[in-house]
Amino acid sequence: MLDLNVAARAETTEDYAPDLAPAAAPVMPLAHLYERVSKHVTPAEWPLIVRDVEAIERLKKQHNAVVLGHNYQAPEIFNTVADIVGDSLALAREAVTVDADVIVMAGVHFMAETAKLLNPSKTVLMPDMEAGCSLAESITAEDIRLLRRHYPGVPVVTYVNTSAEVKAESDYCCTSGNAVKVVRAVAKEWGVNRILMLPDEYLARNVQKEVPEIELIAWKGHCEVHERFTPQDIRDLRENHPGVVVLAHPECPPEVVAAADYAGSTAGMADYVRDEKPARVVLITECSMADNVAVNHPDVEFVRPCNLCPHMRRITLPNIRRALETMGHQVEIDPAVADRARLAVERMLAIR
Ligand code: 13P
Ligand code: SF4
Repeated sequence: MLDLNVAARAETTEDYAPDLAPAAAPVMPLAHLYERVSKHVTPAEWPLIVRDVEAIERLKKQHNAVVLGHNYQAPEIFNTVADIVGDSLALAREAVTVDADVIVMAGVHFMAETAKLLNPSKTVLMPDMEAGCSLAESITAEDIRLLRRHYPGVPVVTYVNTSAEVKAESDYCCTSGNAVKVVRAVAKEWGVNRILMLPDEYLARNVQKEVPEIELIAWKGHCEVHERFTPQDIRDLRENHPGVVVLAHPECPPEVVAAADYAGSTAGMADYVRDEKPARVVLITECSMADNVAVNHPDVEFVRPCNLCPHMRRITLPNIRRALETMGHQVEIDPAVADRARLAVERMLAIR
């Protein structure tokens, strides 16, 4: 919880005439939060951030709102105003049970759409509607209809990183955290050994290695952040940082995943660090993730190659504040699309 009294004390100190001001060192407002972001935010920047954080906290109370924050959010969002943080799967699960009238998505558009699908009566706000995703852009509903004609009777499992229209054409959704489980469940339930797994080619190929008994038909979509990593990057990291444990997201090319020590969703990687406590680790994924995981593991050395997701970076404290001040931008989904898309997401959530 935010300690607003600490901020109030600091403001009062500024009100003294200079010669009457107490000699004590200035109190850092919201010092307990500053501790969590001090590696990324200077003391000079912090008061500006505090103004937004305090305003957002007031607005959340006023509107009975919560902020859901993806693991890739910038540290000054992830560690301050985000009420619930996690990977895409966790945020989708939380969106079902969250007790609030308003959900602000500190993440990208498809995540806000998923929250809206699962909460049609709630207001879901996107601080910046342009926060998209290269995977979601890589496939359309019409593409899926064409594929279905080409592969009659083959079930369609789509990655959650897709638009609601694409989900509406799909049988099931999956995330990187449950993809293997979902394709196994679908193959069993439908009695098939072929599945269209769309649109992330690399996720499909990485999952394929885990389920050789099922033929996965892939699409050519790629994540613009993860496709940039190469096996040579991993070799260089190992040479320059002896003993480093390499964790990779399954959106990376299969050769990169093969060169890593572990592959998993953003939550999977965070859990690995928590459970295995490697002395030195590198997360082959969006680089804010390491900043956020490192806060809870001061004894682990994080090697940090930096690939930023330009879409995640569009979310800022000022635009989260503006979203709550103006109740914009509201995510709306055509009810005819939403009903079918919800089914694909709910079928995924039912698989445990
Ligand atoms: P996670 O589901 O692992 O959080 O990944 C979402 C994403 O967009 C990764 O690029
Ligand atoms: Fe999309 Fe890649 Fe950004 Fe994740 S990191 S939101 S998959 S572009």
